[in-house]
Amino acid sequence: NIIPPLYHNFNQTWCGSMKIGIYQLTKIGIYHIIYLRNRQEVNHMKIHVVNNQVDGAVLAVDLLREKLANGAKVIGLATGSSPLEFYSVLRESDLDFSDVTSVNLDEYVGLGEDSDQSYVHFMKENLFNAKPFKQSFLPNGLAKDLTEEIARYNQILADHPVDFQILGIGRNGHIGFNEPGASFDAVTRVVDLAPSTIEANARFFAHPEDVPKQAISMGIANIMAAKTIVLMAYGKEKADAIKAMVEGEVTEEVPASILQKHNDVVLIIDQAAASKLG
Ligand code: GLP
Repeated sequence: NIIPPLYHNFNQTWCGSMKIGIYQLTKIGIYHIIYLRNRQEVNHMKIHVVNNQVDGAVLAVDLLREKLANGAKVIGLATGSSPLEFYSVLRESDLDFSDVTSVNLDEYVGLGEDSDQSYVHFMKENLFNAKPFKQSFLPNGLAKDLTEEIARYNQILADHPVDFQILGIGRNGHIGFNEPGASFDAVTRVVDLAPSTIEANARFFAHPEDVPKQAISMGIANIMAAKTIVLMAYGKEKADAIKAMVEGEVTEEVPASILQKHNDVVLIIDQAAASKLG
């Protein structure tokens, strides 16, 4: 078994209590040991516990690099603090996106490029200004007609199937802005943000009341259509969400739990986020 180069920096890979892998590169060769106990329980979720966000970013960029080399043309992008180092490593990389399309998960209703908390602003600052894409799509939070904007975005997703989707996870298990209770069948739509999400995201705004109450978000069905999904999560405040996603029941009350049903999900998490896994 040859281990792809992307594993070189990592000496531990495991899926909850269910799957443990040890990858090690030595001068004389590569040893690959996998102990498989109950693959079904984790539905092929490949979990990498990394030391920190920088290691996680390097791993995620290596995964992306491999997919691009194999013809990936559309990547799905996320905002938030979890992928910040990922974007930093991407900016410094030699990767070229001039023939790649990006689609973003979500945008706050009412915020546009002029707002430094809009996701379009975030993406320009963290990636697009340094690494222009062939085309980059985000929902338009300032659209006058939200129904039209939603139809436009769903058409964009239909025209550009995502090869590689980056995800974060909310403390309540949301992905994108699909809050607990969101239908697994949902596509892009306007969503009301959960009070706990408004509270969690208030740290980015000058005043808590400035946090928008609604967003335009890809639905779970859109996210699940991606060929490969890489979810990053760091910190102890994500530990409950990670446990529920990996080991809990698949339920709309934990939107991320649907990822157990996807056949190519990679989780990149630190020790703190992994701390409640069994
Ligand atoms: C936000 C975004 C999500 C993001 C999540 C976690 O509300 N809509 O896409 O994954 O919350 O954010 P963070 O990475 O900052 O914890």
